[in-house]
Amino acid sequence: MVEPKRHTVTAALPYANGPLHLGHVAGAYLPADIYVRNLRQRGKEVLFVCGSDEHGAAITIKAMKEGTTPQAVVDKYHAMLRDAFIGFGIHFDIYHRTSSDLHERTSQDFFLELHRQGVFVEKEEEQYFDEEAHQFLADRYITGTCPNCGNDKAFGDQCEKCGSALSPNDLIDPRSTLTGTVPVKRPTTHWYLPMDRHQAMMEEWVNTGVLDGVEQHDPREWKPQVLGQCNSWLKEGLRPRAMTRDLSWGVPVPLPEGQGKVLYVWLDAPIGYISATKQWAADNDRDWEPWWKAEDTRLVHFIGKDNIVFHCIIFPMLLELHGGYQLPQNVPANEFLNLEGRKLSTSRNWAVWIHEYLERWPERQDELRYCLTTILPEFRDSEFTWKDFQDKNNNELVAILGNFVQRVFVLCDKFHERQAPSGGASTDQEVTMWSTVHAEVESIARHVDDFRFRDALAAAMNIARAGNKYLTDTEPWKLQKTDPARTATVLLHGANLAAVLSIVLEPFLPFTAEKLRRMLGIPRLGWSEAFRTDLIGPGQELGRPEHLFKPITDAEIQPEIDRLLAGTVTQAPNTDPDPGPAEAPPAKPIVQFEEFAKLDLRVGTILSAEKVAKADKLLKLAIDIGEAVPRTVVSGIAQHFSPDELAGQQVVLVANLAARKMRGVDSQGMVLMAEDSDGRLRFVRPAEAMSPGAEVR
Ligand code: MF3
Ligand code: ZN
Repeated sequence: MVEPKRHTVTAALPYANGPLHLGHVAGAYLPADIYVRNLRQRGKEVLFVCGSDEHGAAITIKAMKEGTTPQAVVDKYHAMLRDAFIGFGIHFDIYHRTSSDLHERTSQDFFLELHRQGVFVEKEEEQYFDEEAHQFLADRYITGTCPNCGNDKAFGDQCEKCGSALSPNDLIDPRSTLTGTVPVKRPTTHWYLPMDRHQAMMEEWVNTGVLDGVEQHDPREWKPQVLGQCNSWLKEGLRPRAMTRDLSWGVPVPLPEGQGKVLYVWLDAPIGYISATKQWAADNDRDWEPWWKAEDTRLVHFIGKDNIVFHCIIFPMLLELHGGYQLPQNVPANEFLNLEGRKLSTSRNWAVWIHEYLERWPERQDELRYCLTTILPEFRDSEFTWKDFQDKNNNELVAILGNFVQRVFVLCDKFHERQAPSGGASTDQEVTMWSTVHAEVESIARHVDDFRFRDALAAAMNIARAGNKYLTDTEPWKLQKTDPARTATVLLHGANLAAVLSIVLEPFLPFTAEKLRRMLGIPRLGWSEAFRTDLIGPGQELGRPEHLFKPITDAEIQPEIDRLLAGTVTQAPNTDPDPGPAEAPPAKPIVQFEEFAKLDLRVGTILSAEKVAKADKLLKLAIDIGEAVPRTVVSGIAQHFSPDELAGQQVVLVANLAARKMRGVDSQGMVLMAEDSDGRLRFVRPAEAMSPGAEVR
């Protein structure tokens, strides 16, 4: 393999059909941003491209639902996505869009070149047609039962439950997602990519990295789950896939016989990386071609796991058949992020939206970046909870990183009028501390190269820990009385360690790193400087001691949890054509019996129920659990039950849950509910009537 001279890094183009949420960020954008920032620190030449994916059923179905045009949908969400990325510190060199003219030309030229080379097979076939919507149905326009696993919400291109590739003809009981009607068949002509013919080539490329006898990548560097998914597709056998669609929204097929047809969105979207590069080159008076064609370019695609086949099989195949392009050297796909015990779901509003987070937690980008990085779903699904966010902020950012920096600045302020002191000779303590630090700096770069960003951040935090240990061991606040010269040495080393932190933390916490640089009065520095111990010289003016992070209180965090709960159960039944697999929520971690036994669960009888003013999701219940005064409980079930059907029903109440204010009402407990796969809620209750207050165990 050729030593790379430049890196082209792409992050999956998000569909411009909704705002950015935590799952997107943890899946592709945050790891990509960390990677790029660190490579740049290390002096590598990197181009970081992204943009909105503005074609496909995702867009047109959304437009239908919002009663507007696809153009209006993409304009709205493109702007929202772009701003959310900027606000969250994810800085692409270009954030392009696939509705641009340049993209249209680029993807049409790409298609024409493949066509000229005879890559496609033109074929007339009977396809499903919706007579009510007057439209052919492919991909997400058609749903039915998966022949492989029985999932009744499989789509015309893929079953999200078992991951198998489907075509509409495979679906049992097909239905139009547009009108719900049973489609009929009509003939239509399309251009197919005969993927079956290239199976052997792709198998070899994926598993050995060799293409045309040349080693392109090292498969041992690929994540096991990425190789696994590729091989499960290959094992199923690649099948011809149409590269065109009978739709009006998309890139028009550039052939006279292609009238009224557009390119398949998964053909045009990845070409969006190329057109974005061209636009960047035009804007910056640069040449785009080396970034895609030069042998010493390393192409890396950051994506979520649902995009693996497109980036590891279909797009590389197209690039290879077209000729002249480099294939990706790695596709470090992440698994999924769950939220508070459940799958993220846009349609059920079970999500944390980045633009809302930025509004509610201004200047707190790094706190979320930090927490997300510690739980990136790099090898398996992982979970975000607000409590964990609070804990990591308070116990790690405040207590470890913030604390170290704060102590150094406070002491320099107190003993040295906010200047870095002049130090004396180093002792074993400094030698040990710096050797720990330099080993961690080295390991950060190694972990980044391995796409292990959780480990990289942990190594960076170990540097702050080493700083705290150094201060705890040397106790400069006491030492000053007996040995001011040695104290000065310690503080100078402390300030230098803070300077190293401002470098190593930059990829993860760019806002904090900038603040720290400002406090230290140093510019942005390169990676090799992180091995120096004299970045801050004696006499250097330091800023006033400022807290890098503030503790997050329960009162700040609770509204986030409430908002999530209030917003979700109340959603209308699922009408989203893209609801994701209907799966039971992921299993929670094991708890010990002692933990479970802390819950006081009681049988209760609902005495009355009424609506809560200005909250169409909430009901206020009075529940008798055998106490003198009935409990008042606020429950997000108003859209599942009418108040008058509730009196007399028995329920199970968590009776010792800390009281919580919801819409100004103190809620003194929680009613246990079970949620069915279709989102319907039912009470959990004893099989037979029991006296209120009976203990459940
Ligand atoms: N829009 C797709 C999704 O959200 C990703 C497209 S990535 C690209 O799943 F390759 F097409 F650009
Ligand atoms: Zn299936």
